[in-house]
Parts: sequence; C-alpha cells; structure tokens
Amino acid sequence: MSALRTRFTETFGIEHPIVQGGMQWVGRAELVAAVAEAGALGCLTALTQPTPEALTAEIARTKEMTDRPFGVNLTILPTITPVPYDEYRQAIVESGIRIVETAGNLPTEHVEALRPRGVKIIHKCTSVRHALKAQSLGVDAVSIDGFECAGHPGEDDVPGLVLIPRAAEELSIPIIASGGFGDGRGLVAALALGADGINMGSRFMATVEAPIHDTVKQAIVEGTELDTELIFRQLRNTSRVASNAVSREVVEELRQGAGFQDVRHLVAGARGRTVYEEGDLDAGIWSVGQVQGLIHDVPTVRELVDRVVAEASDIISARLAGLVADPVTAG
Ligand SMILES: Cc1cc2nc3c(=O)[nH]c(=O)nc-3n(C[C@H](O)[C@H](O)[C@H](O)COP(=O)(O)O)c2cc1C
Repeated sequence: MSALRTRFTETFGIEHPIVQGGMQWVGRAELVAAVAEAGALGCLTALTQPTPEALTAEIARTKEMTDRPFGVNLTILPTITPVPYDEYRQAIVESGIRIVETAGNLPTEHVEALRPRGVKIIHKCTSVRHALKAQSLGVDAVSIDGFECAGHPGEDDVPGLVLIPRAAEELSIPIIASGGFGDGRGLVAALALGADGINMGSRFMATVEAPIHDTVKQAIVEGTELDTELIFRQLRNTSRVASNAVSREVVEELRQGAGFQDVRHLVAGARGRTVYEEGDLDAGIWSVGQVQGLIHDVPTVRELVDRVVAEASDIISARLAGLVADPVTAG
C-alpha cells in the first residue's frame, strides 16, 4: 500500500492525510476507533456527550478499541443552553488527548489553554479571514470548509475550488480541505489546490462502523448532489442538511418571514438524533453534504480509507504522470 506524505501527516503523526471531522451524534467511539485503526485521524464529537464526565468515559471507550492516536472536536457555537466548555476542555486534556479540532467561533481561550499542554489544534472554519485569525492565534493547522460541505458552510458561499487555493495563497500552516470530499479524485484535487489533506464527514457516515441506522446510510447512497437544503439562510447561521419534509418546511417558513422561534420545534437536536437512532428519515433535521452524489456504497472504514489512498496514489503516479509529455529532443 503506497503512502502519501504531507505536512499534515508529518505534523500530526497520522499515516494518511485524511481526517474524519466532528459530527454531532455520529462521532462516537465505534467510528473514531475504526478511523484511527485505518490510519486516518478520527475525531470524537465532544458535545455529543451530555456531560464532560460522559466525554471522559467515551474517550476511555475509544482507547479500549484502538492504541492509535485520535482527536476530539470541540464545536463553539451559540447554544440555547450554555455549554461548560472549560470543563469539556479539561476532560479532553486530562484524558491525554493530543489533537483537538475546534470549530465555529474563534477558539482563543481554548488555544491559550491547550497549546501549553502539548495539544495540537486544527481549527475548522469557512473563510480565509477566519483561517488567518486562527493561524495568528497559534493553531497548528486549519481545516477549511467549502460551500459544498455538510453542516455550517458559513455565509460567503465560496466553493472549495476557489476557497482552498485562496487559503493556500495566504496561510503558512498545513491546510485540510473540507467539504465535498469522498474519494481519491477529491484527495488528489485537494493536494493539487495546495492542501495537505482532506476532511470527510458525509462519506464516513456511510460506512459499516458509523453508529447510525442503516436506513440513513442507504439514504446517503441513494441521495444525489441535489438532495440537500440550506436552512437558516435568513438568520445568517446557514446549515446544509438532508432534504426531507422537515428541512423543506423550515426553508419555506423562513422564506415567508418566520423567525427562529417559529421553527424551533422542527429543528430540535433531539429530533435529529432520532433520525440517526431509529432510521426515520423525516423525524427531524440531519446533516449531509452535496458529496452524497458521489457516495455509492457502504464500505468498512478501512476499505474506504485504503481505497481513497490507493485511488489517489494511482491517479498521481499513473494517470497524471502519463499526461506529462516527454520533452521533444532536438534532432
Ligand atoms: C452528521 C454531521 C454532523 C456534523 N456535526 C458537526 C459538528 O458537531 N461540529 C463540526 O465542527 N462539524 C460538524 N459537521 C461537519 C463535518 O465535520 C465536516 O466539516 C463536513 O461534513 C465536511 O463536509 P462533507 O460532509 O462534504 O465531507 C457535521 C457533519 C455531518 C455530516
């Protein structure tokens, strides 16, 4: 099996330049351990756990399944109920985690607290200006989400094809390209655009080990690149989610002038969780990206990671290398 060495693999000590970023309700021990065992970087999602103590237990459960390094995602977003971020961060540090993926608001106090403890930080954001701010805070890498991504694409609507090379023009730290990646073609494209690796969310949902209902995995296989909705546009808190009865109703209500309180009952996190747990696709809001148009099967995590790396290596060494014409030798 060939290997791809990048600044990401070197800086973070991970075999392959592939990350499984935080995913609310999905980023649990089973998936993260499988990603680590496959040689990529899996991240538990801190806020999927109801308390910092539960996160400590989930980290311990993951360590029982793998000896390889894994990270924890800490998503810093405005929430209705205040989140004890400092206590979650303490649980992460005291459990010996060495890699944290932050996302959402600028992680100033977390960077200040984590770096002296030897924790490496990947900050995920959706614009070059936020990436530059994170770099100036001292994060070790930036994961940059293009408009294609599942979850929060931000409000600038710049797709990866422009956002990633723009980030590469401005930043000096390693860059993880995120949003729309699902195969070796995407990995090669990301590297060509100046990134040091890729982050995949939706693609890892459709794997054997992802701890979600098979019906959801099958819906991703059957879904196309057209089957997502952008909710909360009017509230400037856009989220890309699967197109279903609930997300279409939210889009319609907001278009007609409704506010957050009017749709709050539709978007409740508990309803989304029911989708993953019970496989009722219309029970609530659930996240998926446009890349579902490129997802055609449900492999094991190892099959997926091996396939992405093998396909990327093959494209680089065979197809692309073959395009370079031999120099014309003067006769
Ligand atoms: C089900 C799901 C839940 C997600 N939850 C979070 C989250 O809690 N925090 C976060 O930073 N990103 C979250 N994301 C975004 C992913 O980490 C990643 O940035 C995104 O999925 C990349 O786009 P892709 O789906 O096209 O690969 C979520 C994505 C999915 C699919």
